[in-house]
Amino acid sequence: MNTQKRRILVTSALPYANGPIHIGHVLEYIQTDIWVRFQRLQGHQCIYVCADDAHGTPIMLKAEADGVTPEQLIARIKEEHQADFKDFHISLDNFHTTHSEENQQCAEYIYEKNRAKGHITKRVIKQAYDPVKQMFLPDRYIRGECPICDAPDQYGDSCENCGSTYSPTDLKNPVSAVSGATPVARETEHFFFKLGDFEAMLKQWTSGDHIQQQVRNKLQEWFDAGLQDWDISRDAPYFGFEIPGAHGKYFYVWLDAPIGYMASFKQLCATSELEFGDFWDEDSANELVHFIGKDILYFHTLFWPAMLEGAGFRKPSAVYTHGFLTVNGQKMSKSRGTFITARTYLNHLNPEYLRYYLAAKLNSRVEDLDLNFDDFVARVNSDLIGKVVNIASRTAGFINKRFAGRMSGRVVQSSMYQDFVTAGDSIASCYENREYSRAMREIMALADRANQFIAEYKPWELAKAGGKEELLADVCSLSLNLFRVLMTYLSPVLPVTAKRVEAFMNCPVCAPGTWQSLSQPLVDHRINPYQHLMQRMDIKEISRMIESSKNQTAAPIQNGDGGERADISIDDFAKVDLRIARILQAQEVEGADKLLQLTLDVGDHQRTVFAGIKEAYDPRRLNGKFVVLVANLAPRKMRFGVSEGMVLAAGPGGSDIWLLSPDSGAQAGMKVT
Ligand code: 2FM
Ligand code: ZN
Repeated sequence: MNTQKRRILVTSALPYANGPIHIGHVLEYIQTDIWVRFQRLQGHQCIYVCADDAHGTPIMLKAEADGVTPEQLIARIKEEHQADFKDFHISLDNFHTTHSEENQQCAEYIYEKNRAKGHITKRVIKQAYDPVKQMFLPDRYIRGECPICDAPDQYGDSCENCGSTYSPTDLKNPVSAVSGATPVARETEHFFFKLGDFEAMLKQWTSGDHIQQQVRNKLQEWFDAGLQDWDISRDAPYFGFEIPGAHGKYFYVWLDAPIGYMASFKQLCATSELEFGDFWDEDSANELVHFIGKDILYFHTLFWPAMLEGAGFRKPSAVYTHGFLTVNGQKMSKSRGTFITARTYLNHLNPEYLRYYLAAKLNSRVEDLDLNFDDFVARVNSDLIGKVVNIASRTAGFINKRFAGRMSGRVVQSSMYQDFVTAGDSIASCYENREYSRAMREIMALADRANQFIAEYKPWELAKAGGKEELLADVCSLSLNLFRVLMTYLSPVLPVTAKRVEAFMNCPVCAPGTWQSLSQPLVDHRINPYQHLMQRMDIKEISRMIESSKNQTAAPIQNGDGGERADISIDDFAKVDLRIARILQAQEVEGADKLLQLTLDVGDHQRTVFAGIKEAYDPRRLNGKFVVLVANLAPRKMRFGVSEGMVLAAGPGGSDIWLLSPDSGAQAGMKVT
């Protein structure tokens, strides 16, 4: 093991500030936190920072939909995110936001340095523009029919039906997801970062062990395809930082996102003894380690090192990439209730259960990891409760009651204790190399040995036998010593339980440097009364958690009538496509005494809708009137034909129903906002 004190700055990817953290994110924070806690336990200096990723179009539009400013939205989300981090025991030293002064300074500096060295270029590009919303549209905000398989309602960059990727200009019948208008192509000048300038450096950097082998192979594909210029600007309106000297042009969110690592650390420096340059200067000998998911590799292994190099900063020592989380073998899904937010999890289950389960499955490869609920319950109960906690719960009571809390003055079977200590080298190397699953296996194998020892000596029988006091003290004391070693090994994963063990055993368990001091067993040591350490996991809580995830967007609350009402969120409401339509023709429907058949002009096409307004309107008076149409209601087959939407009206019904006034200034096809 490296005995020199290392200085390491660690980051996890920054969560977007437009929604809650979910257990997929939590996988990464737990992976990082275990590594960070392990390093600190070894006595190294390990600083862990993160921040909210607060810029970009989705955040701007979400704030607008919520009726708040982007600043208000990101402030609220930041509080929620911080509470989630804290409650999952993620031991961050600082959590900042990319919408901060520090980040603006760092982003401008990095941009300027790169620009001065000729790594930035400008050119005019054609981009989809929403003429109603008056903004350029990111690919994700253009929907239309897939040019390959004709599947309706696909994104501008890829088809979820056939998997093809294409450019938004290839989409058939494209519409803006923001306003519903047909996008037009418009020219605009953009700024580009010349990634190709850094090819030689990147090839060299990625050939070292800064990244995993699997990632290196992926990068080779990208090098083979050629490094393209990276578009780093976006036009107003945009929530971000305006590019210095370029009015109306903003840094693309992904430019200032990784700089957020630097900015968060910079903020920490202002309130601590830390020196910014110690971790960021070009010649820094300290470590900079990023944990990320496989979807954001390109940004972290190509753009980010290149930007740093261009600005005269050091490059990362390591970028560690993990796979995605699946639940019961499938992608997380809202309808199955497996899209579980951090908060929902915390409302039902102990965070250390998930920390342990993920540790028991994580390795250093870029592999997806499955959270299987049955396995989750079985593993946590059998390993943590059945194997680990059991060691203390079966022995501590005797020391407390029979020996006034004093452990034996000697260690019997010292070779077994020695084996436990020696195993620490291999376990430490597993942690260091992010082979947590192996570390957990090795720890549980030791726990099995400790339990076998207890089963062999049966302290409960020794206690009853009489005259076996000394043996009873020795057996229980060795067991507790073994337990302490195991808890130190597990403490990066179970920090809260480790703290409890520290309190009850009255000795360091997870304090920095404890690992190295384990070679000295506790002798003649006084412990405190045994504290309950961890409860068995109840599978019923998982069912409740799933139910509550399913209901998340429609939590029933009481309305004024005392009845139950399922509220919808603003996001749910935003899904409703409301449009103005003009009635071209209204006619009676044979055999229906309440319905009228309406032929509607929806701007670019016509539709038929059956509306229950016959009692209120003479069809001849309706022609030319405007109505509000729910345009994306699934078509409904009725006895008289297919109704392609729903017309909204106000009033109690019967003859008292009001549609829009004819002189509302409306235009068919217009989106109702
Ligand atoms: O993919 C994401 O969720 C991004 N918000 C991650 C940013 S990581 C870093 F570069 F800021
Ligand atoms: Zn398709």
